[in-house]
Amino acid sequence: MNLSSFFLGVLACWGALSVIAEDRYLYFTWEITNGTIYPLGFPQPGILINGQFPGPTIEAITNDNIVVNVINKLDEKFLITWSGIKQRRTSWEDGVLGSNCPIPPNSNWTYKFQVKDQVGTYTYFPSTKIHKAAGGFGGFNIAQRSVISIPYPAPDGEFTLLIGDWYKLNHRELRRQLDSGKNLPDPDSLLINGQKNAAVFTGLPGKTYKLRVSNVGLSTSFNFRIQGHDLKLIEVEGAHTIMDSYNSLDVHVGQSLTVLVTLNGSIADYAIIASTRFTGPNLLTTTATLRYAGSNTKSPIPLPEGPPTNDVQWSINQARTIRLNLTANAARPNPQGSFHYGTIPVVRTLILANSEAKIDGKLRYAVNGISHVNPNTPLKLADWYNIPGVFDLNTIKDVPPPEGTLAKLGTSVIGFTLHDFVEIVFQNNENYIQSWHMDGSSFYVVGFDNGMWTPDARKTYNLIDGISRYTVQVYPKSWSAIMVSLDNKGMWNLRSAIWERRYLGQDLYLRVWSNEQSVYTETLVPPNVLYCGKAKHLPKS
Ligand SMILES: *[C@@H]1O[C@H](CO)[C@@H](O)[C@H](O)[C@H]1NC(C)=O
Ligand SMILES: *[C@@H]1O[C@H](CO)[C@@H](O)[C@H](O)[C@H]1NC(C)=O
Ligand SMILES: *[C@@H]1O[C@H](CO)[C@@H](O)[C@H](O)[C@H]1NC(C)=O
Ligand SMILES: *[C@@H]1O[C@H](CO)[C@@H](O)[C@H](O)[C@H]1NC(C)=O
Repeated sequence: MNLSSFFLGVLACWGALSVIAEDRYLYFTWEITNGTIYPLGFPQPGILINGQFPGPTIEAITNDNIVVNVINKLDEKFLITWSGIKQRRTSWEDGVLGSNCPIPPNSNWTYKFQVKDQVGTYTYFPSTKIHKAAGGFGGFNIAQRSVISIPYPAPDGEFTLLIGDWYKLNHRELRRQLDSGKNLPDPDSLLINGQKNAAVFTGLPGKTYKLRVSNVGLSTSFNFRIQGHDLKLIEVEGAHTIMDSYNSLDVHVGQSLTVLVTLNGSIADYAIIASTRFTGPNLLTTTATLRYAGSNTKSPIPLPEGPPTNDVQWSINQARTIRLNLTANAARPNPQGSFHYGTIPVVRTLILANSEAKIDGKLRYAVNGISHVNPNTPLKLADWYNIPGVFDLNTIKDVPPPEGTLAKLGTSVIGFTLHDFVEIVFQNNENYIQSWHMDGSSFYVVGFDNGMWTPDARKTYNLIDGISRYTVQVYPKSWSAIMVSLDNKGMWNLRSAIWERRYLGQDLYLRVWSNEQSVYTETLVPPNVLYCGKAKHLPKS
């Protein structure tokens, strides 16, 4: 081999390497329109994405770059958030009012982000104005790279199931009720992929399918089960679990999980059932069909019963069995257990107590006595450009105020230093199930129980294999505790996924900060950033 062909060879290798190293780009153009949908058999206004309700499912692979041009053809401002998508170093793309100006009607805005080091089942949905009650949501699935092994045999196919409560009233009417200080009514139905008792998933006998199940509702937990089939739990919001089999699983608002189902019965149609939890007498049930290809008959097996709707302890006991598989990997080759979260010293404890309040005669909800109000200027923009008078870090405190303190309106931002390792206790003093979601970082669920949390509860924490996820339920009059390493610089939303509660104030932001200004810790403001509020007159970057 002469020298020049040697060099050509080296160049060819470089070329190949740089092609491999360049992560894939997935481009989407989404037209958001107002259309008519018939989920309950009569016409309702719906929010469609490219004419679809629910919206299209994003099928990504770890490290893909996602570019979504959202064209807002509604007559209201609009924002989509990517639930559980980490948005590493770039809260600019998170799609909530604390990080983004909403997209005005008849204009468009392009989200750009990478699904760095993530696998799993997630969703996206509109984050403002109760639009979620009209649609605009969809599945967001991230498969592992081919070089990464998974802890279970590759399934023969996949189904995405978006399940959630649904109202006859349209989102404007629901919003009007909340704005006037009233509760949302009870939901009228549960839908599976936008349909009631109508969705069909067809598979081949003997094969195993991956079912990606998410709760896309506004307020209601559900129990999920399939006639004649076990559910083998494999993944929860990006973490591989101990792979136990369940007859049924509870899924709380905003949560996602993935199960394997083997079609080992006789050829028939089997009912996929979702029924509401903790809703008292107003039990809602909906079904879909798991069809074995070639079937023309319903299975004669009795329909499986869910747990008694108000049996909270059943749900707590089940949740305790959902644990991290320490030896499995997730998106990266190293085992999930190698972080050893239980050995890291906690630098700060927050106790976030949620409550119902009346402020100016109207229903509001609060966290540590503050009912969050979104300023017109996104917090992230105010922070980046040092715009005064938008928020301060002293409004909400780390612990609840003394009992009897009246709740007030405020803008809740809690300041942290990048890489702080934090314990957060969610104390639910309401008689309603809560679900808390954190953007930007997954957390370890270390404990949950009835009653008031006390420091003694730490003795009961799971410091070994607590599940890592983005959304944790907090049972009525109970607490849940998490630990989180705040390794993602930015302004991150910590919200109640119970939509009425979030809309009326159970919403806050974590400002994760370091003085180092570097694109290795946080990307610059994106060139297409929208400005609004006090940032409206800033020059384009
Ligand atoms: C949807 O269309 C209806 C009927 O034209 C209109 O009243 C409503 O304002 C529209 N909603 C949105 C969100 O664009
Ligand atoms: C709006 O869409 C056009 C293409 O139709 C694109 O060139 C432009 O960058 C988009 N605007 C923003 C702010 O993303
Ligand atoms: C199918 O497999 C599950 C275990 O995965 C088992 O419990 C069930 O009895 C099997 N059903 C049939 C009809 O063989
Ligand atoms: C944990 O993951 C490993 C793969 O690393 C797998 O072999 C094992 O079966 C899993 N354990 C459980 C209990 O699911």
